[in-house]
Amino acid sequence: MKTYSRSKQLRISLTSDKRNGNTIAFVPTMGNLHDGHIQLVRRAKQIADKVVVSIFVNPLQFGVNEDLSSYPRTLAADKEKLFSEGVDYLLYPDVEEIYPHGMNKQTLVMVPDLSDTLCGEARPGHFSGVSTVVTKLFQIVQPDIAIFGKKDFQQLAIIEKMVKDLCMPIEILGVETARDVDGLALSSRNGFLTEQERLIAPKLHKVLQECRNAIACGFDSYQELEQHCLEKLKAAGFDPDYFSVRDAETLQEVTPATEQLVILAAAKLGRPRLIDNVTLTLNPSQDWGMLATH
Ligand code: PAF
Repeated sequence: MKTYSRSKQLRISLTSDKRNGNTIAFVPTMGNLHDGHIQLVRRAKQIADKVVVSIFVNPLQFGVNEDLSSYPRTLAADKEKLFSEGVDYLLYPDVEEIYPHGMNKQTLVMVPDLSDTLCGEARPGHFSGVSTVVTKLFQIVQPDIAIFGKKDFQQLAIIEKMVKDLCMPIEILGVETARDVDGLALSSRNGFLTEQERLIAPKLHKVLQECRNAIACGFDSYQELEQHCLEKLKAAGFDPDYFSVRDAETLQEVTPATEQLVILAAAKLGRPRLIDNVTLTLNPSQDWGMLATH
């Protein structure tokens, strides 16, 4: 594995790979790699000739009172994991490399509507920070395919829209959420849970599943369901930001034209804020019955 802190050097290596006809898959990360990231890397290895991973804790996507300074940074361990997975290139730039003129002078990329709802409401500016850094990383790597986890469902939807709107010739691939045996979605922030909170944390996924089951059984009063699920989360010890049933394509309210639902939740549990989602494909011939779930 070749490692670079400077984007120019990486670009030189990739140019010769591309000239030789190799396809490039790219996995952008913020490091502190867990099995969820490793699954993205393995997928990348299956579908492309060369795999690039980036590790960059992007300050532009953190709000003032968020966990930028305490975000776990484990570069040495991350490098070992990527090396043993057979990754070809690792880019780990510093903040000056990505924002040489400072973040205040940075041109921003903003995907409207999709960025303003759900996590965008609770974290103003977050998705503009994500879209901007992902655009910059895409420009550096110029991959054929980029791979993201479905745990960050809204982030994935925003990046898919951004790539379409800005005519970027990159295929975006979403990979299923990696979970612990008890259902908790893997996340770098899980490490902040206390022993007691770790026992409660899987309840987030359980409540999402219960909500999906109720809808699959024909219950279609979504507001009532959302309220009920918020109460369940609060009773379990969470401090929820939202629990919402949405159209999986628009991330807006469900309409009669909706083909796939996504139920998304974000909730603080002690120090970390956890997010998760489940989807449900509606079968029109069964009148809102269930076809497939994830
Ligand atoms: O999902 C993440 O880890 C980050 O939001 C990303 C896509 C690497 C951008 O900083």
